[in-house]
Amino acid sequence: MNILGIETSCDETSVAVIADGREILSNVILSQAEHSKFGGVVPEVASRTHLRTIVPIYREAMEEAGVSLDDIGLVAATMGPGLVGPLLVGLTFAKGLAFARSIPFVPVNHMEGHLAANILQHAGLDQRHLTLIVSGGHTMLVEVKEFGEYEILGQTKDDAAGEAFDKVAKIMGLGYPGGARVDKLAVEGDATYFKFPRPLLKDDTFQFSYSGLKTAVALYLNKLSPAELDKHRADIAASFQEAAVEVLVEKTLRAAQRHNIRHVTISGGVAANSRLRQWLADRLEKAGKKLFYPTGELCTDNAAMIAAAGYYRFQKDGAGEMVANAVPYLKLA
Ligand code: KG4
Ligand code: ZN
Repeated sequence: MNILGIETSCDETSVAVIADGREILSNVILSQAEHSKFGGVVPEVASRTHLRTIVPIYREAMEEAGVSLDDIGLVAATMGPGLVGPLLVGLTFAKGLAFARSIPFVPVNHMEGHLAANILQHAGLDQRHLTLIVSGGHTMLVEVKEFGEYEILGQTKDDAAGEAFDKVAKIMGLGYPGGARVDKLAVEGDATYFKFPRPLLKDDTFQFSYSGLKTAVALYLNKLSPAELDKHRADIAASFQEAAVEVLVEKTLRAAQRHNIRHVTISGGVAANSRLRQWLADRLEKAGKKLFYPTGELCTDNAAMIAAAGYYRFQKDGAGEMVANAVPYLKLA
């Protein structure tokens, strides 16, 4: 069965066609460039850009996949969490298509989409696994008992990890969104240059906190002269990244051990981080466990993961309701 996926929860307009929850036929992603000059996503601008681009992106995805609507057996679209205006554009477009052509429709939880990116790409992944969802909006450790059955072990008390990466990038003058730029710059830096705090590292729960780390970096940068900042830009990026990532690595390893889980996945934009991938893979391997992560394009927001989650939902629960509305604070479990 071919599944049409639509994602518009934030500032990516994306449409994908996948086959049977495993094979990507197309995954067109437009990252809206309009927001960079504002240093963050402007919801109204995002809504208008989704409206302007959703039809051409849909046409491109269908053409690239070599299919017509007659070949689509299921339509899936993100219903939340996300920005309400942007969500409504994709959701309404998807419901319109499905209704007009009598195609079954499934509304998708964006976070379930992120974790489904790993199921889509890794046939060898155990049904029961641990997942760390780390994005610009979320930082949470979830035990996946099977697709659709979740136990949230812990999450952030304040900012998300990706938000900290973005804010640090912004105050360092690296632009928005900055996570990938911090990652790239950190490769050339000395991660031991300055020891930033590791929030809640020693705490025995699976909660996270990133607002203090962000403030610590801001205070540190305030004390530096422009010349010092210029000289040590890469060292500071690497030192911040080391602090941010160490907490993710340690808590994820601890959760996998305590809950006796063999397979671990990371998903969401920060799962693209090279230090997180390498450090966590290494620690898990030493503990006799295995890490899986999506390819870069499937870490950040995309419609292929939404199509996959929609397909697995459809297999589990059948078609969803056409009356599904956008839910900005939709929970995973
Ligand atoms: O999943 P995503 O596209 O959107 C949300 O659902 O939030 O994640 C975007 C986040 C941004 O905060 C971005 O800076 C971060 O993921 N990000 C990274 C990297 N690539 C993207 N953070 C650290 N290292 C990266 N390589
Ligand atoms: Zn996301």
